[in-house]
Amino acid sequence: MPNEPAPNHPAVQVIDVVRDYPRPRTSLLGPTPVVHALRGVSLEVKQGERFGIVGESGCGKSTLLRLIAALDRPTAGQVVVEGTDITTLPERRLRFLRENLQLVFQDPMSSLDPRMRVRDIIAEPLVVQGHPASGERVRELLEAVGLSADAGDRYPHQFSGGQRQRISIARALAPRPRILIADEPVSALDVSVRAQVLNLISDLVDELNLTLIFVSHDLSVVKHVCDRVAVMNAGQIVETGPTADVYAAPQHPYTQRLVSAIPTLERALSGATTTDLLPSKGETA
Ligand SMILES: Nc1ncnc2c1ncn2[C@@H]1O[C@H](COP(=O)(O)OP(=O)(O)O)[C@@H](O)[C@H]1O
Ligand SMILES: [Mg+2]
Repeated sequence: MPNEPAPNHPAVQVIDVVRDYPRPRTSLLGPTPVVHALRGVSLEVKQGERFGIVGESGCGKSTLLRLIAALDRPTAGQVVVEGTDITTLPERRLRFLRENLQLVFQDPMSSLDPRMRVRDIIAEPLVVQGHPASGERVRELLEAVGLSADAGDRYPHQFSGGQRQRISIARALAPRPRILIADEPVSALDVSVRAQVLNLISDLVDELNLTLIFVSHDLSVVKHVCDRVAVMNAGQIVETGPTADVYAAPQHPYTQRLVSAIPTLERALSGATTTDLLPSKGETA
């Protein structure tokens, strides 16, 4: 069953968001040192859009996602989800967000409780929200992510990395969210299964009419699934546009560097072996 129709607002608006973290002191004197994780970020994600955020490790991508999911609060600026400003909303008023917005993380091994059976892992978000999942709903979710019904009886360690990420996706879909946020969902996976998991996410987003916010350090991965992309560098967005345009004609020097690093990665994504990635004789690297 598809999720409820969304209210008539952009899915997510981020307005001039700043997030500073205190850095551990190295001296007793002077002001508390600060990490400027986000230095004034603004973006708007429309309903049903597949929005990518790309940038190198440490540029602030996960921080931005945590703020959108209200797992953290900004130092300044606003985050508006489906028309509601969540910036200062108390936890008890965030229920709509916990139901309508779900996350998938990079490392399924550390985000899945190893002591729980898969069926309980998938049902957990619903239990937390007070309407437990039926066995039938769990089987439906397992099927949707391409796992067999008996997978529910097993534990996370009995699955491969790609299968564990499928379990995380099933769990995220359990509450029928409207917005799915994926933080480097294939970065920890073997190259050979990356495309399968990306295709699965892409198909489910289509089928269930989801808004997708997809983070990766790898522009070729984002290109595979997203309509529009924001490029981040050092806590700021340096360029936003349709993915195909940013990929074909990057405007900002930082994006140009990211794009010029792609051909090798793209071949890696398509399953090329290390030997294929090495320059052949006579070719300069
Ligand atoms: N809880 C935190 N406390 C202190 N510094 C943090 C915290 N979370 C992130 N940072 C710092 O903020 C910056 C951005 O981190 P992050 O959002 O994780 O980047 P990315 O996801 O792009 O790799 C990094 O310098 C990181 O060390
Ligand atoms: Mg991150």
